[in-house]
Amino acid sequence: GKNENLIASDIPAILEYTRDVYFLNNGEIAVVKKDEVMLYDEVLNPVNRDVFTVEWDVSQAEKAGYPHFMLKEIEEQPRALADTLNPRVKDGEINFDEIGIDDAMLAGIRKITIIACGTAYHASYVGKYIIERFARVPVEVEIASEFRYKNPIIDQDNFVIVVSQSGETADTIAALREAKSRGAFVLAIANVVGSTIAREADKVLYTRAGLEIAVASTKAYTTQLMALYMFALKLAYAKGGITKEEYHTYVAELQKVPENAEKVIQNKELLQKFAYEHFTEHSVFYIGRGLDYAMAMEGSLKLKEISYIHSEAYAGGELKHGTIALVEEGTLVVAVLTQGDLIEKCLSNVKEVTSRGAVVMVVTQEKYQDLVKDVADKIVTVPDAIDFEATITSIIPMQIFAYYMSVQKGCDVDKPRNLAKSVTVE
Ligand code: M6R
Repeated sequence: GKNENLIASDIPAILEYTRDVYFLNNGEIAVVKKDEVMLYDEVLNPVNRDVFTVEWDVSQAEKAGYPHFMLKEIEEQPRALADTLNPRVKDGEINFDEIGIDDAMLAGIRKITIIACGTAYHASYVGKYIIERFARVPVEVEIASEFRYKNPIIDQDNFVIVVSQSGETADTIAALREAKSRGAFVLAIANVVGSTIAREADKVLYTRAGLEIAVASTKAYTTQLMALYMFALKLAYAKGGITKEEYHTYVAELQKVPENAEKVIQNKELLQKFAYEHFTEHSVFYIGRGLDYAMAMEGSLKLKEISYIHSEAYAGGELKHGTIALVEEGTLVVAVLTQGDLIEKCLSNVKEVTSRGAVVMVVTQEKYQDLVKDVADKIVTVPDAIDFEATITSIIPMQIFAYYMSVQKGCDVDKPRNLAKSVTVE
């Protein structure tokens, strides 16, 4: 700072005073005086480190007229998605020169493990679907807290991706170290520049969501999806899984996502109304199949963490293996039906719950409205897209619904009980 120096555990705390920071590595020591900072390693050798200048704007750490950070961050998604994608598109293709990953390296990948927690785990699940579908490379998705204690089968043949908004989640850091110690190459998809995960991974693909303050992750999640789509398409092309023409079409379609996200956000009053009608629910089920199941998982997590309403996500076909016993007259079921090839199958699951008296809210693409209108009590649409890319926008109505459910219930939206923004302990 000016005529002062400050110590903090995270950047937002000091952003008002300075943008120049030193990151400390484990075991390092800083001697901080009013006009001097000296860094030492654990055996007191002096450490020379470049000052890192934070690019965030101070306004990103303020609500800027919004009632909650969560709503502000939901509405920042079109910008965040464009910032994550556009600078990495060159001549209609994804360019990872900045990251140091080229097509030859990607072509050599034979198996992938994606590791993360919470919302980042849900994003990883989407990554698995699209990588396996287009690149035909087998992908394991692991919860970081489980991975670290299972003596994982990982070696130099694995390409590991760790996904983390904060880059400081203790379990994800431990998983990254475990994977590296077994010889795996680790790519981080991280949002916070200079975070531990970003520093320790072999390569980093930064999401450019900007500062996310609300505990419930929104723009970090959709930008993680965007990063995973970019990686999957680039990998698929390098592996020969898609043609050049398909590659260009899919990338051009990805570029429409920010605009589509904006259209969903403009429709938020409808979701506010639905939340007003449902905020007294005790239990809500989310169902979907394939990519829609992954979105159902994230929609359900959003609702439970900020509104404290019990919620579960199920793959549509699993309902009749037990959970349908909980569906009774008036139970709210959110059905995500954005994937044309699975709509018929999922509609039969919707009929299973409506015949037991459930009230069904369907999230679908505009082009599928007519297919679902006979079974849905409420329909929320997202703009039409190539089906597998409609997922990024389809989560936004569920974020907005969860937000207004929380507001209606009078909960602390940005700082829900028992939760921390970064889980830096086990
Ligand atoms: O910072 P990370 O992405 O590693 O955090 C992982 C989870 O703790 C985080 O996504 C959490 O699930 C969010 N509160 C969900 O909204």
